[in-house]
Amino acid sequence: MGFFSKDIKSLDDLFVHTLRDIYYAEQQITRALPQMIDKATNPALKQGFEKHLRETEGHIQRLEEVFELHGVKAKGVDCPAIDGIIEEADDVAGDIDDKQVMDAALVAAAQAVEHYEITRYGTLIAWANELGRSDCASLLQKNLDEEKATDKKLTEMAESRVNLQAAE
Ligand SMILES: [Fe+2]
Ligand SMILES: [Fe+2]
Repeated sequence: MGFFSKDIKSLDDLFVHTLRDIYYAEQQITRALPQMIDKATNPALKQGFEKHLRETEGHIQRLEEVFELHGVKAKGVDCPAIDGIIEEADDVAGDIDDKQVMDAALVAAAQAVEHYEITRYGTLIAWANELGRSDCASLLQKNLDEEKATDKKLTEMAESRVNLQAAE
């Protein structure tokens, strides 16, 4: 279903479509993170990815609760945006031999993923509130808070050791 699909008629339809988009994206992220854990060398980065994999599994569970609260079936729709971000990260990482440069590339790829999630959750929270679903909004907020905290940690890593090591 395309973004301007004729199946989307109301804000409620758009909310459900976008919920399904992020549901699919979170599932793709749980598939991509184990490979990123394998490729990471810096122990803090590896542990950070492991922690975020567990959090991402929690994001999927919270989304399932949101679907249930809203009375719609939990299912994903193709999200070419997240597929593209993950595919590009794979392409770039495939060409890197230096471990520290690889870590810098992994941080950059992970931040692109987090920013995608942050924009989706921000939108979904605004629409949930507009639709009178503060119950859904507060669950979505928990996911958003974890994405933002992850993004912040990645920025700290990029600014400190990961980038410094790549420049050596
Ligand atoms: Fe997530
Ligand atoms: Fe995330």
